[in-house]
Amino acid sequence: MKAIVCPRYGGPEVLEFRDVPMPAPAVDEVRVKVMATSVTSGDSRMRAARFPPGLGLIARPFLGWRGPRQPILGTEVAGVVDAVGAGVTRYRPGDAVMAFPGGAMGCHAEYRCVAEAGPIAPKPEGLSFAKAATLCFGGSTALHFLDVAAVAPGDRVLVIGASGAVGSALVQLARHRGAHITAVCSARNADLVRDLGAEAVIDYATTDFLGDPGAYNVIVETAGSITTRDALPLLRPYGRFVAIAAGLPDMLATIGAPGREGRRVIAGPATETPEHVQQLADLAASGVLRPVVDGSYAFDAIAAAHAYVDTGRKRGSVAILLDPAAQG
Ligand SMILES: NC(=O)c1ccc[n+]([C@@H]2O[C@H](COP(=O)([O-])OP(=O)(O)OC[C@H]3O[C@@H](n4cnc5c(N)ncnc54)[C@H](OP(=O)(O)O)[C@@H]3O)[C@@H](O)[C@H]2O)c1
Repeated sequence: MKAIVCPRYGGPEVLEFRDVPMPAPAVDEVRVKVMATSVTSGDSRMRAARFPPGLGLIARPFLGWRGPRQPILGTEVAGVVDAVGAGVTRYRPGDAVMAFPGGAMGCHAEYRCVAEAGPIAPKPEGLSFAKAATLCFGGSTALHFLDVAAVAPGDRVLVIGASGAVGSALVQLARHRGAHITAVCSARNADLVRDLGAEAVIDYATTDFLGDPGAYNVIVETAGSITTRDALPLLRPYGRFVAIAAGLPDMLATIGAPGREGRRVIAGPATETPEHVQQLADLAASGVLRPVVDGSYAFDAIAAAHAYVDTGRKRGSVAILLDPAAQG
């Protein structure tokens, strides 16, 4: 099969369109013929070894010294089951599915095997393969941090980086929980985030949002633009600063007892669960979660998609189409 291989860390030009062995499903696995996948900020970071501040030396022994240990990047897919292991009971060839191998990656390929009890769910009818293939990276991260931060009805939530893959999911899902959302983004994305459910929008280029002490129950930072020191004064008592794009200093701030008046910092990798995938499929099927797809690229043009994601300016997600019909 064809796959996009990242043999070493570097710019988008290191990616190679190669023939690799076709995977065979294990007894408990389904093999998905990939219709669409995505290039996420995670793929871009991994390809470039652009790890959050302070984490490079910690990450490389696990993820690979000179290049990714898993050379086929890609965290999420949507496609059609084309083969199943002997023990599989829930899926049959021909089923349309979405899957989120997440940190295990390996999705930038024509086929990807996934355990039937793993991060896979039927694709919602009415959702294109391209949209289904972009639900999980941002969506699963948003679900994880909304749960850990216990976002509740009436909470005033500031989402910094509201127009990205994680931010656009967060705005919608926090709003669905009954929170009041203030979104931070640039002026060109103001209408988008309002449409997703933000009641107030702050343009970070023209407005200093650090001058509003005690305004929020929860601050979610996906752009890496403010630190714990900036965020804590903006929180109400028992407020939570969720540093999704955190480097080592914010992660260290999570250790120990809550700070003054119960304020605390939440950071670290999001937990990826099979339940998230089914939850996201259900939320999309019911119209609560609308995937924001910035644009799509052909499989053999994936380097151009990486170059765009590298800019840090994408809106929502970028889809990769292995079959033109995936656009839907
Ligand atoms: N902890 C975890 O487990 C976890 C999981 C997933 C992702 N992450 C991290 O979370 C971060 C966000 O991921 P993502 O996929 O959502 O990124 P993304 O889609 O690439 O984010 C792009 C968006 O960020 C906005 N942006 C850029 N600079 C900004 C600023 N200073 N203030 C506000 N918005 C800004 C851009 O809007 P404008 O063009 O309008 O500026 C753009 O829409 C990444 O650092 C990623 O590594 C962490």
